[in-house]
Amino acid sequence: MKLVKLIANLGYGSRREVAWMFREGRVTDSDGDVLYADDKLPQERIRIDGEPLDPPSGLALLMHKPVGYTCSRKDAGRLVYDLLPPRYRRREPALSTVGRLDRDTSGMLLLTDDGALLHRIIAPKSHVTKLYEVTLAEDLKGDEGELFASGSLMLDSETTPLAPAVLHVLGPRHARLAVTEGRYHQVRRMFAATGNRVETLQRVAIGELGLDDLAPGQWRAMTREDIDKVIGPAAAPG
Ligand code: URA
Repeated sequence: MKLVKLIANLGYGSRREVAWMFREGRVTDSDGDVLYADDKLPQERIRIDGEPLDPPSGLALLMHKPVGYTCSRKDAGRLVYDLLPPRYRRREPALSTVGRLDRDTSGMLLLTDDGALLHRIIAPKSHVTKLYEVTLAEDLKGDEGELFASGSLMLDSETTPLAPAVLHVLGPRHARLAVTEGRYHQVRRMFAATGNRVETLQRVAIGELGLDDLAPGQWRAMTREDIDKVIGPAAAPG
């Protein structure tokens, strides 16, 4: 791919703006030598204003979503994309959230520009476990775990029952819930179905990957090991 297109696709500017960046000498190689738009060199050797280029497409990010941010590209309030450098919103292919968390839910959110990876994580048949920690308005009654595990809980306005989910009670109003689906407001609606109300909700793990020590609002690029922890290791070739 031509350098102008490659850099424009990473969101640094329109092709015209990127062409100007070359003219202004802002695009260099790792030795500081000014590059020209028709030069050919590996992406990892390109610098813009002395800084390495953002990762190429095939990017996956792990974010600790704070409460109050929406998983949307266009909404009036705070957006999860506001936590990333502004050019990340202009990348081609676009970065999408892997499923959504409600505005009032915090915790682990993945974003990727890799459609196949996104599908693999959210497809129900992949059975990727999402682990949520909840605090509740009322004490647990004691029969919620059995109901959630039954595979027969039908939420309002749904036509198929929920797949079995696992409840770990941590205290009278405190629990962890492991689900393999991602239905709309699923965890809040599951507890509502038991006559309770979720007060705080945080996603603490997806597959085997936890939030590490990312503070709310922080994010980092995922490694291959992170992705394997989410979807399981890729099958060995052959
Ligand atoms: N379940 C919910 O109710 N909300 C979320 O954000 C995620 C799961």
